[in-house]
Amino acid sequence: MECNKIKIRNFRNIEEAEIEFDGGVNILVGDNAQGKTNLLEAISFTALGKSFRTSHEEELIRFGAEFAEVSLDFTDSVRRQNITVRMMPGHRRRIEQNKVKVGRLSDIVGAFRTVLFCPEHLSLIKEGPGERRNYLDIALSQLYPVYLKSLQRYNQILKNRNKLIRNAEDDRRTFNETVEFWSSQLAAEAAVIARYRVQYLDRASEHIKACFAEMTGDREVPKAVYAGSSHGEPESYLDVNATEKIYFDLLMKNHDREIGAGTTLWGIHKDDIEITVNDRSARAFASQGQQRSLALAMKLAEGEVCAAITGERPVFLFDDVFSELDSTRRAYLSGKIKDRQVIITTCEPSGIAGGKLIQVQNGRYF
Ligand SMILES: Nc1ncnc2c1ncn2[C@@H]1O[C@H](COP(=O)(O)OP(=O)(O)OP(=O)(O)O)[C@@H](O)[C@H]1O
Ligand SMILES: [Mg+2]
Repeated sequence: MECNKIKIRNFRNIEEAEIEFDGGVNILVGDNAQGKTNLLEAISFTALGKSFRTSHEEELIRFGAEFAEVSLDFTDSVRRQNITVRMMPGHRRRIEQNKVKVGRLSDIVGAFRTVLFCPEHLSLIKEGPGERRNYLDIALSQLYPVYLKSLQRYNQILKNRNKLIRNAEDDRRTFNETVEFWSSQLAAEAAVIARYRVQYLDRASEHIKACFAEMTGDREVPKAVYAGSSHGEPESYLDVNATEKIYFDLLMKNHDREIGAGTTLWGIHKDDIEITVNDRSARAFASQGQQRSLALAMKLAEGEVCAAITGERPVFLFDDVFSELDSTRRAYLSGKIKDRQVIITTCEPSGIAGGKLIQVQNGRYF
């Protein structure tokens, strides 16, 4: 997978730009607030169908402009392709893949695959479970369109079920009549999603272990396993029917607790990844340095799993991560990215090996 060229109109502080990328390391250099992350955001937008910084599309349109447009040329193992997205306030966005209109942004997810790595990801271990679920959802959505569809349905059903719970005190009758319906729908999607997540972590774990060992020379062994809110062993989630039943039972047997809490208490929106080193919780016991190495290993593993499943390497997008790493991890990361395409942003390019330098100044690139 290679990102060849991007054309941008009115995206964030970028009024107009056309940038060609090298197939290897690309380094975007510039002072703060010049538009480095904005460019990564534009690239990532065409991969994920959404921004990694905001869920408010209007924020992406340059202040005062009437529309924003991002057009990305990339090459996969088969051919050169193009994705173009145009956004206008108050209108549905217009999306085209290879000049053919596409209905929804989620339909293009998975065509151009990236692994995004920002400084916040370095706290993947110590942050709350939401960040770790996001790690899984972004990786899996790019690999399996059915995963993304399931997740979207799940979130919609969850919204409806939560609304039902919130209204339960005033309208117990509607609750009693429909809770089984929403619970069974939710459990069915949850079981599918949980199985994908378990299988993914199973594959990723091997790479996490290898990267961690290479990076730290530690003999301690990390592991990342799925920690589902139904409390089954990870392998038990491979049986979709059994998992569905477990989630369904939880959703049908604890209504008073859920009404008290005002929300759905079980399901994949509550699940987590349990990361351990030598079988002890990394969150509680690993050193800060180990936690950062683990997070870095998880991101590199994301690239490896993607390459193994799709047969081609994703494009790495590194936002300002080198400045956050010590010299050992920097050197390790530089070695790891040598023979693949990566687009890096930084204020300070020294210490990053080779590649094409792109200067960034006030939304311009040269
Ligand atoms: N919708 C928008 N229209 C115009 N400018 C915007 C918009 N959204 C953000 N900006 C501007 O973009 C700039 C930030 O750009 P960006 O986040 O890419 O900076 P950066 O080069 O990555 O800086 P840093 O090194 O600090 O991370 C800010 O000055 C901000 O005001
Ligand atoms: Mg930035």
